[in-house]
Amino acid sequence: MTRIAYVDGYFQPHAGACVHIEDRGFQFGDAIYEVWSIRGGKLLDEDGHFSRLERSLGELQIANPKTQIAYKLIIRELMRRNRITDGLVYLQISRGVAPRDHTFPKGYLRPTIVMTAKSVNAGKIQSKALEGVAVICVPDQRWGRCDIKTVNLLPNVLAKQAASEAGAYEAWQIDQDGYVTEGSSSNAWIITPEGVLVTRHADHAILRGITRGKILECAQALGYAFEERRFSLEEAKNAREAFMTSASSFATPIVKIDEQTVANGAPGSMVIALREAYLEQD
Ligand code: PDD
Repeated sequence: MTRIAYVDGYFQPHAGACVHIEDRGFQFGDAIYEVWSIRGGKLLDEDGHFSRLERSLGELQIANPKTQIAYKLIIRELMRRNRITDGLVYLQISRGVAPRDHTFPKGYLRPTIVMTAKSVNAGKIQSKALEGVAVICVPDQRWGRCDIKTVNLLPNVLAKQAASEAGAYEAWQIDQDGYVTEGSSSNAWIITPEGVLVTRHADHAILRGITRGKILECAQALGYAFEERRFSLEEAKNAREAFMTSASSFATPIVKIDEQTVANGAPGSMVIALREAYLEQD
């Protein structure tokens, strides 16, 4: 089966799909993106990701080139052509192609749209998640608007590479005051010794994860107490449970932070309940 991508209005073989060398996404990282999970042929948190897409475009002053209905039709077609039941959809929109100049090009510029989809092994992801994962900590070296989902991901890439080289799954980024901001591609959570769920408030230092929002709703439904506030690395290392959330990992237990095991080193019961509740949602 030939893998198919969508680029600028056309479905085409993924292997040869390309954009112009003067695309501003390539030249400047002048682009935003979204990622959805697909489970059982269904797109998870579809509308939440579209709302954030609109917000990211607005923050960059890029006029949305398509309606949500149009994107949804393309995504369905991409899923069909790639025969995806469980997988991920990636959507990137750049400001478009123009001679290289930092300022926005004058007049109308047609944004570049790239969409890809791939299958994942849902069973393998589930069993890996239930074992729990390790994180390392790195200094947060990103810019001041991490709330915008741009493709400027170099610090995140370097953090994730450091994690991989250390045999860990994710890197938690630590701000200048010793507080955890978020992972390189996920939000960070702990459960205090008193059983209170804590995740950083959604300021400009983190991406307001769509999964994060859904997990807060699940916590409410399960009757868990929660606080949106900063937490330090020290507090995390003394937590009862720790976990990460993202569209691709849902809620995944963290059992080790740097060299320290979290509690007894086994996934906690609250995060497992939250993961189940999240996956059972409509
Ligand atoms: N990452 N924080 C960062 C820096 C992220 O890149 C992501 C998502 C999240 C979680 O957001 P959400 O729950 O909406 O996926 C938090 C995606 C999955 C990625 O880059 O592939």
